Amino acid sequence: MGVSETVNRQSSPSNFDIQRMVAFDFLRATEIAALNCLQWLGKGNKEAADEAACDAIRGMFDITDMCGEIVIGEGIKDEAPGLFKGERVGMWREGSPKFDIAIDPIDGTTNMSKGMPNAISCIAAAIPENGSEPALQEIPAFYMTKLAYPASVRQAWLDDPGLPIDVDAPLSEVIRVTAKILGKSIRDVVVMVLDRPRNASFIEEVRHIGASLRMIGDGDIAAALAPALYSSNIDLYVGIGGAPEGVLAAAALRCLGGGMQAKIWPRNDEQRASLVAGGWGDQLDTIFRSKDLARGNEILFAATGISDSPLLKGVEVRGSTVTTHSVLMRAKSGTVRYMTTEHHLERKTIHLRSSGQEVAI
Ligand code: FBP
Repeated sequence: MGVSETVNRQSSPSNFDIQRMVAFDFLRATEIAALNCLQWLGKGNKEAADEAACDAIRGMFDITDMCGEIVIGEGIKDEAPGLFKGERVGMWREGSPKFDIAIDPIDGTTNMSKGMPNAISCIAAAIPENGSEPALQEIPAFYMTKLAYPASVRQAWLDDPGLPIDVDAPLSEVIRVTAKILGKSIRDVVVMVLDRPRNASFIEEVRHIGASLRMIGDGDIAAALAPALYSSNIDLYVGIGGAPEGVLAAAALRCLGGGMQAKIWPRNDEQRASLVAGGWGDQLDTIFRSKDLARGNEILFAATGISDSPLLKGVEVRGSTVTTHSVLMRAKSGTVRYMTTEHHLERKTIHLRSSGQEVAI
């Protein structure tokens, strides 16, 4: 190669390239969150587990070339140690891509603390396309009623909006029409519900119509994605769960093509009054679709399994080799990458915020 043909190795990649590269840093962040909190699996200490996951994510973000802002963080409901709304993350270099970020360092902290299945670490990130409007919609309530369904059910509803695929419709109707669309008998329609007293009427309705019920103790991000995953054998997710978790699930569903509807569920009169006082009164009856919670097309979702879930297997440890199972999705291309990664502990280091440098795990 002549001098004139020498590739300019100093040239910086285009903004487009940077966005695609940053996507892998989100995945690295959930991977190392899972690795760093694994020491707390089954140890009965939710806070320590959350802190370890946050420390790893912050550390990874400290070396990530982006202008990131946490728009949906942790801690609202549980007062957990977390990454909080408004926090700036990333290197904030001139020209770095701007991302709105929703984060759940551990969804399923109780499962985590008990060593039970269904704990994942996940991040949704979206590039705001429309000036000041956030790409990921913060909902100032603890809970939302959610209904999530597969892509084929979403398509049937888009073709015929009169179908009772509706978070306000009686669940028995939703199950009946889902069975028809999926070509199943009602007893084979599998419905996942978060096991809470507030969800008792949904549980009763599933049993009453004779569909198949799967209850989970915690972790409804993976649960809401399950109907959109062919391999999950779950057809519907329904019930009242966390509002921030609903936004993270919406971002992933925008990538996967499944559908979700969600409605604010004030947990008491005091919260209803505070929502009204905050200007949310006219939104209490609004049905938010995935595209209202996660806007635009520039959406990424990354997750790593901590313990086994319908979405991902958990971390596997064999001597000094640790295997993580992750997924990285993009709404724009619809690409869903599943990644199995082997980490070699004798060589592996991670960048923690608390140490400010690379440390061994
Ligand atoms: P955390 O891991 O943040 O505790 O959330 C677990 C979870 O089960 C979520 O998946 C779900 O949306 C929410 O809690 C339900 O809230 P609650 O436990 O208050 O019923």
